[in-house]
Amino acid sequence: MRRYYPGKNFRCALSIEELRRVASRSVPGFAFEYVEGGAEDEQALSRNREALDAIRIIPNTLVDTSNRNQSIVLFDQQLRSPLVIAPTGLNGMLRYHGDAELARASAAAGIPFTLSTVSNMRLEDVAESAGGRLWMQLYVMKDRDVARDIITRAEHAGYEALVFTTDANVFGYREWDQRNYRSPGKLTLRNIVDTMTHPRWMFNVIRHGVPWFDNIVDFMPPEAKSASGGVAFFPKLFAPDLTWDDVAWLRDLWPRKLLIKGVLSVADARRAVESGCDGIILSNHGGRQLDACVAPIEVLPDIAEAVGDRLTILVDSGFRRGADVVKAVALGADAVMIGRATLYGLAAGGEAGVSHALNILISEIDRTLGQLGCKTLSDVTPGMLVKSR
Ligand SMILES: Cc1cc2nc3c(=O)[nH]c(=O)nc-3n(C[C@H](O)[C@H](O)[C@H](O)COP(=O)(O)O)c2cc1C
Repeated sequence: MRRYYPGKNFRCALSIEELRRVASRSVPGFAFEYVEGGAEDEQALSRNREALDAIRIIPNTLVDTSNRNQSIVLFDQQLRSPLVIAPTGLNGMLRYHGDAELARASAAAGIPFTLSTVSNMRLEDVAESAGGRLWMQLYVMKDRDVARDIITRAEHAGYEALVFTTDANVFGYREWDQRNYRSPGKLTLRNIVDTMTHPRWMFNVIRHGVPWFDNIVDFMPPEAKSASGGVAFFPKLFAPDLTWDDVAWLRDLWPRKLLIKGVLSVADARRAVESGCDGIILSNHGGRQLDACVAPIEVLPDIAEAVGDRLTILVDSGFRRGADVVKAVALGADAVMIGRATLYGLAAGGEAGVSHALNILISEIDRTLGQLGCKTLSDVTPGMLVKSR
């Protein structure tokens, strides 16, 4: 198919793919490659898309779908759409105060936003400037005091849910990042030239200085406080000794909704139920961790059958179209987390760009429902799906 190149104006982008193209021109290569890249050969990254594309839908015809509604109830609250913005670190490298821009756009769209542990704004500042429904993502690092600090602060600031990410115990090997951030705190000559050719980005981001990991800055060693140093330093901070005992520990500390992000087997999903978790997020970190990993959508049906009536199931990794979201709901997901799709919007147009990305997805979900002969997401059933070879 012929592809349209929307130039640099995000408002001309009609799809997430077009928004991705605008984003790729809006920020320097090292920032875009940080967002875009997957681990090693990027097989998990491609598999996420292939697995979603392989599912086809058989529509029902001649059904009155004039009044369509994609809202859902998640943790006893109404959401306008079955979407949650996924936690992503270093949003400040794409846009100054990118964390707050993402949070404000989600609040306007009526969906929750998840702030990463390695954000470039303090969680209190995001809560104050954005409002809306906020979830806090937690990386439990070698120094368990980081987790204690975040949990206490997030509870105090009114965050509704804690998302414990378990698939980064050993940090993924993203070769783009290795090349771009080889020496902590320094950029290569290629990257410096690249930066100079993005004056708008420089004005928006670098005018305020290199973004820092403000949320956990007190715990970072001096060479890792800034974005460029931190990317190289992360592998040393993450805890390879995480176990289910950490879940029990978090369950005691955190009184609100607790979700585990990175569950991909029925056995682990059952342990999440036994550990008193409220939800799980089936995720391979958008193909950024284990390169040989299965695509979350492939394991969703078995996990939904095993535990779907006992906890809330979210899924992410590879979702770029409204039809992808409808497929996941049909297979038993309660909602879908969106990572890169909204980051493309952020890079291309800040808060308005994120809203543009969400509007694209929401209108695609609506259109898909109508074309399927469904008025609501509960009308979509697994029987409507077939797997192509
Ligand atoms: C740039 C980037 C940064 C990320 N940072 C985090 C993070 O700090 N914590 C986390 O749990 N997941 C992180 N993730 C994974 C996302 O939460 C999510 O699982 C993934 O992006 C979903 O795949 P998708 O990008 O194809 O939608 C990150 C992903 C990207 C692309």
